[in-house]
Amino acid sequence: MVLSTKQSERGKEIKFKEEENNYTTMVFPKNVDKSDNMTIVILGASGDLAKRKLFPALFTIFKEGFLGSAWRVIGYARSNLTKQELIDTHLLPFLKKHDKKDLDAFFEHVFYQAGQYDKEEDFQALNKLMEQCEIEGEKILEAEHKSQLEHKCLTDDEVFDDCKSPTAPFKPRRHRFFYLSLPPNVFLSSASMLGRTCKSQTGYNRIVIEKPFGRDLITFKKLSNGLSKVFGKDEIYRIDHYIGKEVVQNLLVLRFANVILEPLWNRNTIKSVQIIFKEELGVEGRGGYFDSYGIIRDVAQNHLLQILALIAMEPPVTLSPTDIRNEKIKVLKSIEPVKMEDIVVGQYKGKVINGEKVLGYREDPSVADDSITPTYAACVLKVKNRRWDGVPFFLESGKALDERLAEIRITFNEVPANLYTHAVVSPNELVIRIQPNEAIYFNIVNKVPGLGEKLSESQLNFTYKTLYDAKKIPDAYERLILNMVQGDESNFLSEDELKYCWQIFDPILHELQEKLVQPEPYPFASAGPTAVHYLRARYGLVASKNDSDL
Ligand SMILES: NC(=O)c1ccc[n+]([C@@H]2O[C@H](COP(=O)([O-])OP(=O)(O)OC[C@H]3O[C@@H](n4cnc5c(N)ncnc54)[C@H](OP(=O)(O)O)[C@@H]3O)[C@@H](O)[C@H]2O)c1
Repeated sequence: MVLSTKQSERGKEIKFKEEENNYTTMVFPKNVDKSDNMTIVILGASGDLAKRKLFPALFTIFKEGFLGSAWRVIGYARSNLTKQELIDTHLLPFLKKHDKKDLDAFFEHVFYQAGQYDKEEDFQALNKLMEQCEIEGEKILEAEHKSQLEHKCLTDDEVFDDCKSPTAPFKPRRHRFFYLSLPPNVFLSSASMLGRTCKSQTGYNRIVIEKPFGRDLITFKKLSNGLSKVFGKDEIYRIDHYIGKEVVQNLLVLRFANVILEPLWNRNTIKSVQIIFKEELGVEGRGGYFDSYGIIRDVAQNHLLQILALIAMEPPVTLSPTDIRNEKIKVLKSIEPVKMEDIVVGQYKGKVINGEKVLGYREDPSVADDSITPTYAACVLKVKNRRWDGVPFFLESGKALDERLAEIRITFNEVPANLYTHAVVSPNELVIRIQPNEAIYFNIVNKVPGLGEKLSESQLNFTYKTLYDAKKIPDAYERLILNMVQGDESNFLSEDELKYCWQIFDPILHELQEKLVQPEPYPFASAGPTAVHYLRARYGLVASKNDSDL
């Protein structure tokens, strides 16, 4: 392995590891030193997200060597668990594929503290546990420091640098990161308890919150105001894990590191943009949270709008988080609020599949019998700026549909004065598939080899699984937790961005609620409500093809 350094556009030095297999892995610029003490607290550690995503992501980051030796993760929740019970019942089932030796090493860094989300004495107990762990961590760091000094030849600079001289007092900082993996009703009470009792005085404090960031513009502002009373602007990390997905990370590279796309990337050449998020599963007994939010708040207002912003934004001046966010904000501000005539909402109903009855949404025990919460929504957004005016951006998201698919489909204009009128061919399309089977491909028109003039559609394709080792594709949470620890905010959402995201959907959400709009029923495992065909037709949009063989 060779280490080379480059001056990045962020003005920081970035190191590149050149592995034998020619991958170039970026080692992020860091402001948290591995010789510091680091505590990550997961609140809601007994929950679904923590066990399925957060602990496994931390395991990977630890195994890759990003966390140094004086770090720990403390699970915090109301459930009365011992550390061993947390490991056995919550963590091990999701870490089974790993070596026992690696797991044992990881579990040495795992702790658990039971407590309520609004009791100061419970948070004081958490603070005490953090302090005890930090003291132990300092002993480890001090021993490492001494051993390094004994074995190190100091450079001339270091000899004269008071902080690095062997006699300088050794003072590792204590960084504390709090991940709220909790239902939104306890976000604010937990954050204010943490702010009052658990913040470090000698290192970085960061709090991570998961969507939903409120139910509407007003509740979003309330949440933001509440958080800002206890954590500074730079300490709040709002996560949308979709941004951490590998293909979504590639969007800016694809757009701005290649010269061929930019001349095509506008209203003169692009006919429409479709951003699709389809799930096969229904709520499956977990409808409680979903029923009070619905698919628009759960998927469209955050994941899909974030993708739209990355597709439609202007090139940022640099790759700094501020420059990227400023461009995203500009494009979000130019989107008109969704109108009733441009949205279709649906709700799945039950069906018998292979002799077995699959429950409809309202039949689910966790959902009210008369719920009008949409499980499907499709809408057309209009970006009113010089680049995109007139190009419909179609956003579709739904549960209990006929396939699991997340993709961006960019359809180009028809060929003017087409010479090949004898063949009916679809326009060119650039498809960026986020999941499953990450891929980027171009649908083009080709001549079929032979003496005739037969034309066919074919694909210039790049699938991740053929070009890269699929195992090397990091999980979104691995990337985002690492970014958070290292203080890289570029993949997190700013308060302003979210405000503009809410402004696009807030009026229609209120209108749907006030008018008690009944979502159109659609069968489980179908393509969704029929009204979407009319919406598509009105904007000249073609439904996505199934290219799953790619
Ligand atoms: N699950 C996902 O894949 C996913 C994806 C994206 C975003 N999110 C967001 O991440 C957060 C956590 O999601 P999750 O699926 O892990 O949630 P969850 O399993 O429903 O809840 C996490 C933990 O919170 C505690 N809890 C549950 N209901 C509570 C209530 N009413 N009052 C107080 N505490 C309660 C429970 O722990 P104790 O009873 O032990 O305290 C539970 O184990 C949510 O904000 C969710 O919207 C989740």
